[in-house]
Amino acid sequence: MNLNIDTYGQYLEVYKYSVEHPEKFWAEIASDFEWKQKWEKVLEWNFSEPKIEWFLGGKLNITQNCLDRNLVENADKKAIIWEPNNPNEHIREITYRELHDSVCRFANVLQANGAKKGDRICIYLPMIPEAVVAMLACARIGAIHSVVFAGFSSQSISDRINDSECSMIITADGVERGEKRVELKKIVDEALVNCPSIKRCIVYNNRNWEVDIKQGRDVWWHSEIRKVGANNEPEWLDAEDPLFILYTSGSTGKPKGVLHTTGGYMVMAGYTFKMVFNYKPHQIFWCTADVGWITGHSYIAYGPLLNSATIMMFEGVPTWPDAGRFWDIVDKHKVNILYSAPTALRNLMAAGDHFLENKDLTSLEVLGSVGEPINEEAWYWYHDKIGKEHCPIVDTWWQTETGGMMLSPIAGIGVAKPGFAMYPLPGIQPLLLNEKGEELHGNNVEGNFCMKFPWPGMARTVYGDHKRFQQTYFSTYNNLYFTGDGCKRDEEGFYRITGRVDDVINVSGHRIGTGEVEDAINDHDCVVESAVVGYSHDMKGQALYAFVICNKPVDDLIKFRNEVGKIVSERIGSFSKPDKIQIVKALPKTRSGKIMRRILRKIAENDYSNLGDTSTLIDPKVVDDIKSGVI
Ligand code: PRX
Repeated sequence: MNLNIDTYGQYLEVYKYSVEHPEKFWAEIASDFEWKQKWEKVLEWNFSEPKIEWFLGGKLNITQNCLDRNLVENADKKAIIWEPNNPNEHIREITYRELHDSVCRFANVLQANGAKKGDRICIYLPMIPEAVVAMLACARIGAIHSVVFAGFSSQSISDRINDSECSMIITADGVERGEKRVELKKIVDEALVNCPSIKRCIVYNNRNWEVDIKQGRDVWWHSEIRKVGANNEPEWLDAEDPLFILYTSGSTGKPKGVLHTTGGYMVMAGYTFKMVFNYKPHQIFWCTADVGWITGHSYIAYGPLLNSATIMMFEGVPTWPDAGRFWDIVDKHKVNILYSAPTALRNLMAAGDHFLENKDLTSLEVLGSVGEPINEEAWYWYHDKIGKEHCPIVDTWWQTETGGMMLSPIAGIGVAKPGFAMYPLPGIQPLLLNEKGEELHGNNVEGNFCMKFPWPGMARTVYGDHKRFQQTYFSTYNNLYFTGDGCKRDEEGFYRITGRVDDVINVSGHRIGTGEVEDAINDHDCVVESAVVGYSHDMKGQALYAFVICNKPVDDLIKFRNEVGKIVSERIGSFSKPDKIQIVKALPKTRSGKIMRRILRKIAENDYSNLGDTSTLIDPKVVDDIKSGVI
């Protein structure tokens, strides 16, 4: 299918076709990939169970599409260019031939260590090419990877390993991020104390640091790799065989293991990458996300490789050695497409434009944004100062659950508005609903954002808990997928995401469930109960505000706040620490015991107007008490 759409008129035509003939449309896209055996049926679905199956009967291996397929014409093309944390250390360049070789060898290592189709394998690695190698090696043998962002604590690792009963973990000795030294293997060792299902831990030697090796459990990546050959026949998987699990936070309870399957995810990641970025074979593509998040899965690893792209990968942080590092990398490697997050852009913008001096950014052709709403100021800065007013900005809206981009301007078209994810990609069918569950037709409307038809990249279940999958996404509205986001369709019919309408908070693009943070805070000896809400933050987009009730007077508030922050870091990760912690006597609760978060959100925003009806509270006076102690 020709995915080069150059005008908005062409887009409208393709879009219309995709909605009128969704199965034909997606089948045409899927035909651009290599299948060992073609599918018999494009789609079977219902949103009530829910059951979603794409390309039934098809057999494939995603790594054949990412790697083997490129051995014909692109073997010597660079697949990955890697920039280390320390700019004085060596860069690495890996061709498609070399990547294929590394993945096949590591797939053999996995098999030699007992891994097989269907096994769950946890990956806890920094931003090094081996993270991509490990993911692809799992996919090659049909094992299900579960990448855990290497900023999560040992407790979070063990929770995730135990939930999906991983038999193996792949990690590294450690990593430096800026000047910070992170001893990954130590964190993993602590996690594994509580993980009986883990039989093997494979350790990549990234920094040559000393680590404890537990005999019988731990092996070194480099010594294992010497024992195996370079031939590995991919496992031929059914289109609906699982490809990976990725844990993400929801409104309630523990993180959910969102499960994606092989055929549909491949089609989605490959198609959206090509379509949205208008990718051309000469271009160097840089996604600044971490492989531990869905953006890294779809647009560092799979999407670009499925399009024979050259990926730029960066181990470090945007502000080290200084806030010009991103622009140094663009200049040094002549990056053509930059896909980043509003939080990073806001931070770099705040650091000052002198960091842009003497940086040649003329290689840039397309700019992307993902993860949270981008404010106009950051959008214009990106557009004017980074893109020099000639690079289209693609503001892509999507989720861990959607597998790939859903709404976005298409780079080749050039129709965009600051802060707008604009329009659905061909094949995606969104709608807005009001509180009563009625569809909002026409323009200039705002409501809850849903999807009425499946798309190949959508999650199939929550690992081990299909009921939770049904309840979270398909029970709010009959026969619809509910995203959890609010959205506005403006007078011209363009979409603008307004943010989450549930208890998920987006801090610096990291998705955080308030329930998880509250559980962690409640572990403090002095805390009886807590309620966490989000409030607007100039840099992070949103930050966390915790209201806590203590069982005794707290004399040293600073010490108390530090202790609470430490518990949250240990239980989840330091990115989940509340910025503000206020001790309160009581929380605003209804007679049925429900905390009225709406009121707390307003208080956290310092917005005392229209707190709404407080008469249903057990004790309306509580609100004044809280207001008087606001930080
Ligand atoms: O609220 C939306 C926000 O991020 C949520 C999904 O988070 P996660 O699953 O971690 O995936 C992030 C990367 C795809 C969404 O429900 N979000 C994502 N992209 C945008 C966005 N909000 C506004 N504009 C976006 N472009």
